[in-house]
Amino acid sequence: MTAVGSYLPANVVTNEALSSFVDTDDAWIRRRTGIAQRHLVADGETTADLAYHAATKALANAGLTGGDIDLIIIATTTPDNTFPSTATKLQHMIEAKGAIAFDIQAVCAGFVYALDIADAMLQSGRGHRALVVGAESFSKLLDWEDRTTCVLFGDGAGAVVLELADDAGDWGIRSSVLHSDGAYRDILYVDGGPSSNAAVGHVRMEGKEVFRHAVEKLASVMDEALSAANMQAGDIDWLVPHQANVRIIDAMQKKMDLPSDRVVRTVEQHANTSAASIPLALSAAVDDGRIKNGDVLAMEAIGGGLVWGAALVKFGRPS
Ligand code: UT7
Repeated sequence: MTAVGSYLPANVVTNEALSSFVDTDDAWIRRRTGIAQRHLVADGETTADLAYHAATKALANAGLTGGDIDLIIIATTTPDNTFPSTATKLQHMIEAKGAIAFDIQAVCAGFVYALDIADAMLQSGRGHRALVVGAESFSKLLDWEDRTTCVLFGDGAGAVVLELADDAGDWGIRSSVLHSDGAYRDILYVDGGPSSNAAVGHVRMEGKEVFRHAVEKLASVMDEALSAANMQAGDIDWLVPHQANVRIIDAMQKKMDLPSDRVVRTVEQHANTSAASIPLALSAAVDDGRIKNGDVLAMEAIGGGLVWGAALVKFGRPS
């Protein structure tokens, strides 16, 4: 993983602003989630637009152009259209003419899923450079009259570049573990979709149940990822977790016994941006100089399905 870039829509909506039309308040949202604000897309701004801005920054940071990219995977639950994929739209926008491009859908775990797929495709000879993007206009799936969900999410995009290199050594993805369990599909879902209901639908969630699964499953999948890489939690420089709720992030920090200043927290400013949340957090910590070339990152996420996973990555490239 040699570079990262991200993009947030300009429109910032604070908790106070939400409380002018939903029965909620800043104190509840901050106390129960850690969220203070979220960025929301403007009218006419789409997931492909967010992905484009994030991807062009990641490419510039890697010293590459679209023509250097062999594979584009966008993790998104909020594509511009049912088809074609948002990834093919991005391919055209960045002029990555020869690239394979497709979307994957694993909601909030989409980025760790896409990372695993891209790495496997590169390792199996499908190209040398991949662009992995998490991009969401999640606000389009919200029921703005349901205070139990609408306060939790935001929009944005983050992108990383993966590059194969002969001298990669222990750089790049050290381990990746993914899980799915459809038995829990009813605790977090959208009540619409092309084959079940003509409408796009809205997010429905049993928050407490999802919270309980998140704390338990993220801890166990992180143990699996550490064990697969033959590493201990103490070998991790940064935890870059999915940003759903600061209480879930704090529980992971405690479980891994990491110092608080080794955990990247962006949920306060971004809220839960689903598949975009990990690359957005990564980008923030690289841009402000916390994450440096050669740092070992632990990433984890869980989303509707349920689907969950963790990846350990040595960030950057040998200098
Ligand atoms: O990224 C995908 C994964 N998603 C997650 O990880 C989300 C996991 N779940 C959570 O983060 C938390 O469960 C929530 C933040 C969604 C909810 O927090 P909670 O502490 O589990 O609250 P709750 O659902 O038990 O609700 C407690 C009370 C209820 O009132 P009563 O029934 O006790 O009178 C809710 O009606 O808080 C009320 N409430 C609100 N009050 C003000 C729920 N939402 C709000 C709100 N503003 N927005």
